[in-house]
Amino acid sequence: MDTQTIVILDFGSQYTQLIARRIRELNVFCVVLPCTAPLKEIQSYKPLGIILSGGPSSVYDPDAPAADPKILDEQTPILGICYGLHYIVHHLGGVVRPGPKREYGDAEVTVENAATPLFAGLPPRLQVWMSHGDEALELPAGFSRTAVSSNALAGIANEERRIWAVQFHPEVHHTPLGPQILKNFVFGICGADGDWTPAHFVETTVAAIRAKVGKDHVICGLSGGVDSSVAAMLVHRAIGSQLTCVFVNNGVLRKNEFQSVQKNLRDKLGLNLVAVDASERFLSKLAGVTDPEKKRKIIGNEFIAVFDDEATRIARETGGVDWLVQGTLYPDVIESSSVKGPSQTIKSHHNVGGLPEHMKLKLIEPLRDLFKDEVRRIGRDMGMPEEILSRQPFPGPGLAVRILGEVTADRVALLQEADDVVVSEIKAAGLYTKIWQSFAVLLPVMSVGVMGDQRTYAYTAAVRAVHSEDGMTADWTPLPYEVLKRISSRIVNEVRGINRVVYDITSKPPGTIEWE
Ligand code: XMP
Repeated sequence: MDTQTIVILDFGSQYTQLIARRIRELNVFCVVLPCTAPLKEIQSYKPLGIILSGGPSSVYDPDAPAADPKILDEQTPILGICYGLHYIVHHLGGVVRPGPKREYGDAEVTVENAATPLFAGLPPRLQVWMSHGDEALELPAGFSRTAVSSNALAGIANEERRIWAVQFHPEVHHTPLGPQILKNFVFGICGADGDWTPAHFVETTVAAIRAKVGKDHVICGLSGGVDSSVAAMLVHRAIGSQLTCVFVNNGVLRKNEFQSVQKNLRDKLGLNLVAVDASERFLSKLAGVTDPEKKRKIIGNEFIAVFDDEATRIARETGGVDWLVQGTLYPDVIESSSVKGPSQTIKSHHNVGGLPEHMKLKLIEPLRDLFKDEVRRIGRDMGMPEEILSRQPFPGPGLAVRILGEVTADRVALLQEADDVVVSEIKAAGLYTKIWQSFAVLLPVMSVGVMGDQRTYAYTAAVRAVHSEDGMTADWTPLPYEVLKRISSRIVNEVRGINRVVYDITSKPPGTIEWE
């Protein structure tokens, strides 16, 4: 059975992901494609409806982003939002011009055609969020106005052609009845059933992977985090032992992590998992290195080398490896396929784990249409342990970017202990899943202390806890004093080698989440 899908064409709006999120909240599946996606690709989803996002451009700019105008002739219901409305008007023979006044922020809209199914059940006046400079001056033949703001036209429709559009943004929080408008489009106009469930996704994805892979062999680099684990689990469901997962101990994992990941993924979930303890290999390469970027590069390159060795060995044993599983998520896809090109703000160091060209592996990315919270739902549906699903993000270069100065086995052990105190106290206080990341950092700063009657001279640990939506910006978390007090006293008492604890109260920007 085909999954009922709404296709969202992205014209470069900062709100496109929000549209997708609102649609998924209705238990309706959707995908975002760049507006330049070929008609064939759009049609391959057999979309129930197409939403044209907003965007920062003007339709009359010479390089204005454009979709294939044939989508407007398909009788597939269309909803244009902001730039999407201009695009429709412009391509069907109407006129769009810069408006006399930019309309930005809260606005009130009057519904003029209450009978239009897009506005079913809504009051005659709506609070909405506007953000546009252009306006539609003349409508194309067959279109009529459905709503108006004090400044400009706010909604149009051509019901015969099954096209609706609004000038405002129904997807943002500042349009309180926006969800109802999207609901009217998706259910009332497109006829969706709202039956998209994790089980549905697992079933269709597993079948698709099975059909794609056939008898080939597949490998997956596991980090123990949510994304790679759920991706591996889906492939495991599809092809069982044809999948080999590789989990590398890079010497900078957290306390007991090498063992607990194996226990969860191999023992509990039955994945075919090869665990490679390469700590010495990594630590010897890191010896004497203090520059943060050098550390990152060494770990990234060494990971590729270890993974390459394993893949070669697995290929020898299995007669060849053709596919690589990656836990790419939907926000990653949008970042890299945006019409504006890859975002400037992504740091290159976040892409550790890129693999050498010569491997020539084809990619399986079963999560590339999903958000993180949906990945968790899917993991839960497959019975995966909460320990994996609710794990806070952990960077590829691990504790190495939390040990300032040289990374040695001793320092790793010190930080592992201090970090374990932070994490276990945060968990005990019931805060772990409410915080984006919480961890300890080992500073190369030594200071004097006193314990019993003894003078101490030892290292400093910094405690970091931040709230964030996506890691791009973050606020430091005001942890309760009681929790800070327990963390501090336990670290100083239990971790020999650390005699001082400080709390990091820097947000991002201007700080970063990791110290290096
Ligand atoms: P920063 O330190 O840049 O981190 O504020 C933002 C988010 O990204 C994580 N992070 C990484 N993740 N490889 C990763 O997989 C990396 O090299 C890396 N560096 C930072 C960080 O933990 C935070 O969630």
